[in-house]
Amino acid sequence: KRILVLHGPNLNLLGVREPGVYGSTTLEGINSALSALARELEVELKTLQSNSEGALVDAIQEAMGDCQGILINPAAYTHTSVAIRDAVAATALPTVEVHLSNIHAREAFRTHSYLAPIAVGQICGFGPESYLLGLRALVSVLEK
Ligand code: DQA
Repeated sequence: KRILVLHGPNLNLLGVREPGVYGSTTLEGINSALSALARELEVELKTLQSNSEGALVDAIQEAMGDCQGILINPAAYTHTSVAIRDAVAATALPTVEVHLSNIHAREAFRTHSYLAPIAVGQICGFGPESYLLGLRALVSVLEK
């Protein structure tokens, strides 16, 4: 099975960006932990980070027929993007939403996610571990 892993805007700055909120792990660190877990779970990952909403929409569309599920941290686009939600809905692929921080414990504008109602579920607040929990959750959905 192949899974599309998407990281939204500013996540390329992990490790440097607001370490008090997002911790010191870099995106490379998260991606290598995900790769190790993917080997263990016997799934293949296709990974992309983009700061651009359109590039994320393109990658989601390209997952149709190529991947069986999507693991996504839409970052700030979580709270703004109808386009990303519509693209995910169009693929009809099981999608798990993850966040490093607990978006429900921060500013009010972060508590709303356009994606959450069409995702299988949302995992947030566990730092980089959110991604690993999300990958496990998605693989268990795909195995059902
Ligand atoms: C984030 C939370 C978002 O509110 C924020 O815009 C991000 C990162 C997280 O992983 O905690 O960029 O998605």
